[in-house]
Amino acid sequence: MNILLLGSGGREHALAWKIAQSPKVDTLFIAPGNAGTAQTGVNIAINATDFPAIRDFVLSNQVNMVVVGPEDPLVKGIYDYFKNDEALKEIPVIGPGKEGAQLEGSKDFAKAFMMRHGIPTAGYKSVSAGNLQEGIAFLESVKAPYVLKADGLAAGKGVLILDSLEEAKKELTNMLEGMFGEASKTVVIEEFLDGIECSVFVMTDGKDYKILPVAKDYKRIGEGNTGLNTGGMGAVSPVPFANDEFMDKVEKRIVIPTVQGLKEEGIDYKGFIFLGLIKVEGEPMVIEYNCRMGDPETEVVMLRIASDFVELLEGVATGTLKEKELTFDPRAAVTVMLVSGGYPEAYEKNKVITGLESVSSENIVFHAGTKEENGQILTNGGRVIAVSSYGETKEEALKKSFEGAQTIGFDKKYFRSDIGFDL
Ligand code: AMP
Ligand code: GLY
Repeated sequence: MNILLLGSGGREHALAWKIAQSPKVDTLFIAPGNAGTAQTGVNIAINATDFPAIRDFVLSNQVNMVVVGPEDPLVKGIYDYFKNDEALKEIPVIGPGKEGAQLEGSKDFAKAFMMRHGIPTAGYKSVSAGNLQEGIAFLESVKAPYVLKADGLAAGKGVLILDSLEEAKKELTNMLEGMFGEASKTVVIEEFLDGIECSVFVMTDGKDYKILPVAKDYKRIGEGNTGLNTGGMGAVSPVPFANDEFMDKVEKRIVIPTVQGLKEEGIDYKGFIFLGLIKVEGEPMVIEYNCRMGDPETEVVMLRIASDFVELLEGVATGTLKEKELTFDPRAAVTVMLVSGGYPEAYEKNKVITGLESVSSENIVFHAGTKEENGQILTNGGRVIAVSSYGETKEEALKKSFEGAQTIGFDKKYFRSDIGFDL
């Protein structure tokens, strides 16, 4: 079969790496991809949200399945675009429809969904211009720190955590007045949860589900989890604190009611559900849902899936997930992200990347923000390369990834050398 994968980051290179291992795949196309995916499949110069161009490509290249990496095409309705088109409707899109993608596209929608289905999450209040006073009253009723979230997509920047009530009131007004554009016309105020976070990924065909290996990502730029939030500086799987007892609670209290809730509400959801979880006094609670896989979590989760991933994707597409087998690789997997100096603030691009051919065969190098020009691989983003490795223990895997991170070079390269430190 021919598969088209949409996206251009480290997550997509990791998905491409795993998909290409399946004997079921003839040609894997990636749109638009990066310099790494070009070595795994065939890059196509089409933007992941250019639906008409995707349509033409799919029809003229006998594409049998579309796998969506990032949230943007899902929130913009690529699933529905295919379903409503006579020529495309039989071609499965892995990812939810526009309505299901609201689990990520609207924090207000996600919170109300969790309330309707009794899924554990922080107490909240949704505020817009019309009920600002209720928002102020809610802030006054909870304890510091104060959590303010833009309702809509804000490129991972829409969450503010503030220590003082005065500041929280001021920022609430700023957000409603357009600090994050349309995305913060509604703001979700949440109670602060104190605990340790992990990411759980669920594949669902709308009826049944499979829980993928659990991972932990490191969001802050600085060592010891300090400084600004980034897209993610590294990840580890498995996660020791997400033990069998914890995962049993996650399944019963969160995964089952989520899949069941989507079904009951008639929401067509065939794809990935990303549960951003926090463990508070031993109990799992949902911090956020996303409608896609995580990045850089995918760069470790794909290493830990032993079974044929395309079989699982087919199970999602055809409603036969229950019959498919999901087996895990028992080894630990880690990834360390190399980023451009200055990221997540201003940074430079187009730096020549060296050492890629010298890394050990123990490293699985996923490109995140790279491009090829005249035979050279150049930096093309804030997050540049994710160096993944296996190990019998996470320490052994980390040692290999840090060696790889030293071997690869580019001007102003930075990475965190403490990934996994808190586990
Ligand atoms: P989100 O985009 O909703 O995942 O929020 C980004 C980050 O903010 C999360 O990964 C948490 O570290 C933090 N965060 C979000 N909501 C809360 C909360 N209610 N309590 C504590 N921390 C939170
Ligand atoms: N690593 C977090 C995310 O993908 O949103």
